[in-house]
Formats: sequence, structure tokens, C-alpha cells
Amino acid sequence: MQATKAASTTPLTPLLGAEIHGIDIDAGLDEEQMAFVRDSLHARSVVLLRNQDISPQKQVAFSKRFGPPLRVSLFTQYKPEGVDELTVVSNIVKNGKPIGVMDAGALWHTDGSYLQRPDMYTVLYALEIPHLNGKVLGDTLFTSTSAAYEALPAETKARIAGLRAVNSLTHHVALRRKVNLKAPPVTGNVGDVAPDVEHPVVRVHPNTGRKCLFVTEGHTKSIVGLEPAESDELLASLYEHVKRPEFVYRHKWRVGDVLAWDNCATQHLAITDYGDTPRLLHRAGIAGPVPV
Ligand SMILES: [Fe+2]
Repeated sequence: MQATKAASTTPLTPLLGAEIHGIDIDAGLDEEQMAFVRDSLHARSVVLLRNQDISPQKQVAFSKRFGPPLRVSLFTQYKPEGVDELTVVSNIVKNGKPIGVMDAGALWHTDGSYLQRPDMYTVLYALEIPHLNGKVLGDTLFTSTSAAYEALPAETKARIAGLRAVNSLTHHVALRRKVNLKAPPVTGNVGDVAPDVEHPVVRVHPNTGRKCLFVTEGHTKSIVGLEPAESDELLASLYEHVKRPEFVYRHKWRVGDVLAWDNCATQHLAITDYGDTPRLLHRAGIAGPVPV
């Protein structure tokens, strides 16, 4: 991609991620700068803009330039300053009530894959980041699902071509309970709020055309048409493959980080090692197409 007058990037790993320099979101981006951010996101799947200082309204305005906002009804109660397009991600409890979604993302997943139309991108802004003895806590790991797909043996690519998988919030909630994570704040039957959906195991990226592995440890329940044992075995082998270190970028958060990622080309995992030490981020989801 061509650098704009003021913006440039440095890679975060050889395969994945770029830090973008020279962009001040609060000051506003012209179309050339925004095109540079979008192109960098499509080229590198995760982009980092450090030292930002933005209001919820500015985060919404920036996020809308990637596409229309996606709000999932499950989390609408956690919004900062009444801003409907954002969700608070936090472990902070005020007056006995959580102010945000707790333990978010603590299993490998891609945002909204349990929806017919999952989040295309996510924009997360860090306001408070926990530390212990000088060490940053609460890292987020990203893996490249396109690099992982491309590295699969030819026979595995042939085996999974055309397969579809069930992605399930009900399954996700059950997994979270098993590992003692806080369940999402769902009242009533999860399956009524978010019924299971089928998506292709290999998804074609709508912008880049790259093939991406679209099954996740956190949300994928089974592969359609396979016996349970065969489905479990195939999914386990794909999960192991996608987590290989060469595909992974580990983000160490700083206050002021704006991180935008592509939910087709990546999966992510939040490390919940911070206990009650306060952590606060604002999240914007951006709507996308039905995966094909
Ligand atoms: Fe997530």
C-alpha cells in the first residue's frame, strides 16, 4: 500500500498486524488517510493506532467509516455515556453492578460468528489497562486465519472444502461455564436470543478474496454432516493449527491504543490474568455480509 503524506506503518509480526503512525483520530481523518487505514487493515488484518485520546462520539465516527455499526442486543445495557454504538468491556463493578462485559473474549473466537451476519471489523479503544509489578496484564492474542488456511496441507484443504459448521452462542456459554468464566449477561434461553447458525468452514474474504478458516474453539459446535467423533477430531486439529505461534500476534495494551481488526481474517483471545485490577475498554462492532 502507498503511504499517505503523513501516515506510515510498521509490521507487528512478519505475517500479521501493522502499527499506523501519523494519524490523530481526534483531529479527524481525510479520505486519503481513511483509505490508508482501511487498506492497511485489509493488508495486515489488525491495525494499531497508539496515543489516541478520543471521546465515545469520536470513536463512533471513526468506526462508522469502516461500515455501519453492529449492535448485539445481548450487550446493549453496557454503553458508555448513553452512546448506543459502543459496548463497555470492563471488570469494574460500581455500586454492586458490573459496568461492562466481563471476561470478554476469553476463548479463541471471532466476533459475532454466532450471528447470521457477524461483525466484519471491531474497533477497541483502551482507557484503563491493568499492570502488576511493571508488567502489562490483559493481553489480546490475534491469529491470522488466512495465513493459517494457506499453510494447511493440500489434503486438509480438500477435506474441508465446501463444509459448513454450526456456530452457537449456547455452546459458547456452556464452554464458559465449564472453565469458570462469567457467562455473557443473557437472561432467558440463550438459544432464543441467538439461535445457532451455519457458516462455511472456509470463508472467502469479501474485500481481499483470501480464504480464511472460519471455525473457532469458542463458538463452533460441530461440522454439519459429520459424525460427532469425526467432527470433534477435525475441529480440534484445525484449532491446534490456527493457534500455531507463527500465525499469532500478542498485543500488549497501552492506554490510548485504538486497535481495529478484521473478524474474517483473524481470530482473537483475551488473556484474563488481571483479576479485580481495573480494566476498561470501549468496543465498536462493524456490520458485515453473510459469510460465503
Ligand atoms: Fe472478541
